Amino acid sequence: PNGWPGLICRYADYLPVTDQTPIVTLHEGNTPLIPAIALSERLGRNIKVLLKYDGLNPTGSFKDRGMTMAISKAKEAGSKAVICASTGNTSAAAAAYAKRGGMKAFVLIPDGKIALGKLSQALIYGAEVIAIDGNFDQALEIVREMSEKFPITLVNSVNPYRLEGQKTAAFELVEAIGDAPDWLCIPMGNAGNITAYWMGFNQYYASGKAKKLPKMMGFQAAGSAPLVTGQVFTKPETIATAIRIGNPANWAKALNVRAESGGAFHSVTDVEILAAYKFLAGEEGVFCEPASAASVAGLLKVSDQIPSGATIVCVLTGNGIKDPDTAIACAGDEKLHKGVSPDITSVAKVMGF
Ligand code: F0G
Repeated sequence: PNGWPGLICRYADYLPVTDQTPIVTLHEGNTPLIPAIALSERLGRNIKVLLKYDGLNPTGSFKDRGMTMAISKAKEAGSKAVICASTGNTSAAAAAYAKRGGMKAFVLIPDGKIALGKLSQALIYGAEVIAIDGNFDQALEIVREMSEKFPITLVNSVNPYRLEGQKTAAFELVEAIGDAPDWLCIPMGNAGNITAYWMGFNQYYASGKAKKLPKMMGFQAAGSAPLVTGQVFTKPETIATAIRIGNPANWAKALNVRAESGGAFHSVTDVEILAAYKFLAGEEGVFCEPASAASVAGLLKVSDQIPSGATIVCVLTGNGIKDPDTAIACAGDEKLHKGVSPDITSVAKVMGF
């Protein structure tokens, strides 16, 4: 068929696939890069902010980029089942792609700490959902050991194919902008995505498609900020449940990215995250999940350090529809008019006519 073939077909030359690889795809990737008009205006000084809206992938997050690769390679290797720990998005993507690849999916989630949309996805795609009375870090420890002891493929971002798939977002950015941006602002949890973007930028730089490399600006929630403080958080907390992680698997790689790119890591409070979340939906018309808004909250936090005229990309990693509870709580019910009589006069009255 015509149209976008999915990121493995599009970027096969840059990915560890061969003619023998059975490609499991939902035609992920090729997501919009949206100018942040209100945000750019607010920052002034000719600063141009662009939003990489990866929430428009098939299961609503950037995880689809990594999962098409991880599942295709698992299938190529003859695997019959996959497992992951997840704060929600990885479980949704693993469930969907495993189903499409004819495999079983087992997902471990922190009970009560994943957004409603993500849980509903894992269930409807038919994964076995194991809710543990613990956090993501504990779940990851368990699945790592499970995958060593049993014939089951681990599809967390410690699986190198995940990062290979995710690096294609950097390719798309270079193609859309004509070069790498000056800064890339990105939320960090397990720090797989920041690592993957850096791989992608470096590959396009080496091949001459990009003339420069960006500063990598990573942001964590203040209650779950091990990469900022240098200490493990044994009890990570944040409203941004997607990045509620206290001991990131890609810790060393993330520090390396920061050093190599001349970037910086900062934490943002839940209040700052929610302010950015509301601003993006209310002023830009772009609805992302709270964790994704950490990239914009972080940018605002360090706005005095942005060079004039800079081009900056904020990665919006997941779709806002994933977390309806937070959206409704944050928006409030001020504009929800209930119990209105079904006649024009009553409706017009509510509208102020
Ligand atoms: N944004 C969202 C929406 C996420 O779901 C995640 C991670 C991140 C950012 C951070 O990415 O871990 O590569 O640094 N979610 C994982 C999950 C942990 O299980 O869905 P990272």
